[in-house]
Amino acid sequence: MVIVGAGECGARAALALREEGFAGPVTLIGAEPHLPYERPPLSKDTMADDAEPMPRHVASLERLSEAGITHLGSTEVRAIDRQAKRVHLGGTSLDYDKLLLTTGSSPRRLPLAESSRRCVYLRTFDDALAIRTHLRAGIRVLVVGGGFIGLELAASARKSGCPVTVVEAQPRILMRGVPAEIAAILHAAHAAAGVHFFCGKGITAIEDVVAGVRIQLADGHVVEGDLCVIGIGAVPNVALAEAAGLVIDNGVAVDAHLRTSDQNIFAAGDCCSFPLALYGGRRVRLEAWRNAQEQGALAAKNMLGAGESHNAVPWFWSDQYDLGLQIAGLPDEGVETVRREMGEGALILFHLAADGRLVAASGIGQGNSVARDIRLAEMLIAKRAYPPREKLAAADAKLKALLAA
Ligand code: APR
Repeated sequence: MVIVGAGECGARAALALREEGFAGPVTLIGAEPHLPYERPPLSKDTMADDAEPMPRHVASLERLSEAGITHLGSTEVRAIDRQAKRVHLGGTSLDYDKLLLTTGSSPRRLPLAESSRRCVYLRTFDDALAIRTHLRAGIRVLVVGGGFIGLELAASARKSGCPVTVVEAQPRILMRGVPAEIAAILHAAHAAAGVHFFCGKGITAIEDVVAGVRIQLADGHVVEGDLCVIGIGAVPNVALAEAAGLVIDNGVAVDAHLRTSDQNIFAAGDCCSFPLALYGGRRVRLEAWRNAQEQGALAAKNMLGAGESHNAVPWFWSDQYDLGLQIAGLPDEGVETVRREMGEGALILFHLAADGRLVAASGIGQGNSVARDIRLAEMLIAKRAYPPREKLAAADAKLKALLAA
């Protein structure tokens, strides 16, 4: 069993192969020098904690070696020879029976920023360390992109005392997958923390100047900073799969079993698109921590012949300041919204399909205040439930009771 990509998904898959009882060789290959680590802290704790940051490993070296998993770090797979069932590592090669691609995604590059030495991206632990060294009181931080990376980074930079300006091309932040009302709550929290926003503004030029980096906006505004972090989305890493002739469709295309167009090659996590049975087989690609875990484990089972379908409900979270956002399901599947106000500013929006089926729930509140109800909503979504609107709207109506019903 050979796994290409040693992030959350690849590491989970390697461990799951052992948990499923596979006793043969397992090799986990990753381009980064580190043991597999979790990425969610990179924009949060890794930036703002006082302590010298360390990667949060998915599995320690001891655990990997106890499990008999060979981790090849700083190693890039150059090519897949599907005929010979072999991967080429530049100099050496490795034969496989089953291959799993967990190659993840990369930050989308902004062409206008290519000549600037003060524009950076955040994806790896090393990227995070490099950005962190700049986050000191008074260092002016520009953020391009009001998505998850940009906003989490903005919150961390404010905690470090940096003036922060966010430039977002769309009319509002978090257009991708977050309902407007919830995005507005986050926008207000950032504004209250002193973040400046330019939304709905295209960028016409970025240049390094003596005093920093300067961004020219289409409406004539000019913003200046010492550092510019660009978070304008992620693109799936498909070059290897594409060169091997696998079908690509917004990522490596896999079926419900996470199998690619080659029956001996599977793909999972950020790099793949798959049909989501919950929404009539709609093909999606999810860039989310839990999806990486779930698909890693499922791919391992199916590499061993289980033939199980992916049917998990998408779930995503983001922490910014003391606010916790959680989304279960895909809100854009809904045509109607039911609001549930839970006190102390906590809010859940239930998204219903045209026939009244609950298809998603988006919640925001202090800390973990919406976690329990979002978890229950997730179970209702998985059950394809049609909960009564008045019950969803009433904060004292228990979702657990709806689940039992
Ligand atoms: N100028 C300004 N903003 C832009 C531009 C541009 N040229 N192009 C895109 N944007 C904005 C989008 O409108 C969007 O609001 O950048 C934002 C990107 O947000 P996301 O799609 O959420 O991507 P990003 O924040 O980069 O996160 C990448 O990391 O944490 C994970 O889940 C996250 O998978 C996501 C990935």
